[in-house]
Amino acid sequence: MFDTMTLTKAGGALCGSLLILLLGNWAAEGLYHTGPSGHGGEGELAQAYAIDTGADDAAGEEVADAGPAFAEVYAAADPAAGERVFGKCRACHKLDGADGVGPHLNGSVDREIAGVAGFAYSDALAGIEGTWTPEEMEAFLASPKGYAPGTKMSFAGLPKVEERANVIAYLATIGG
Ligand code: HEC
Repeated sequence: MFDTMTLTKAGGALCGSLLILLLGNWAAEGLYHTGPSGHGGEGELAQAYAIDTGADDAAGEEVADAGPAFAEVYAAADPAAGERVFGKCRACHKLDGADGVGPHLNGSVDREIAGVAGFAYSDALAGIEGTWTPEEMEAFLASPKGYAPGTKMSFAGLPKVEERANVIAYLATIGG
């Protein structure tokens, strides 16, 4: 029954199907592989913007934050979506006037920068003049450490302009 011939045939069949499997995999990778490797997670959106920036690379500073302008996005911002974004802030910021790891953020839009009496701000933030206009706050939220080097807000920032606009629109609905 199990003579050499049968075994050889079986082995051959196995090798054949393995080869087909390998070729199939390879072909599928070629077909479905999207974008350069190393892009993950939010890469898709970032990539869409990257294409824009590449086009007018020489235009200067503005290019760094290409994509729709903040004012435009803010005009159409969605406070309800911003409330969900605020989930990323909640661990450190309260909205009831009490300070936590960070100062309370009710009434924070158009409030003086580092203006909560009794909160121990970093020198970095305390040294910045002005008020948290939506524009200032969006610059801070894009990159807290870029905006105020030495800030003690240990938060990487919100890379998406829509998220920044939405969370600021949400905060603007909460007075204090
Ligand atoms: C890990 C804790 C932490 C997280 C998360 C965090 N923050 Fe902060 N935040 C702080 C601290 C601490 C400060 C004070 C920074 C300083 O003094 O340098 C601060 C300061 C601020 C300020 C300035 C307030 C003022 O009175 O001047 C704003 C606005 C702010 N955070 C918004 C946000 C938003 C919006 C989010 C979520 C997207 C967020 N933060 C996430 C800790 C945090």
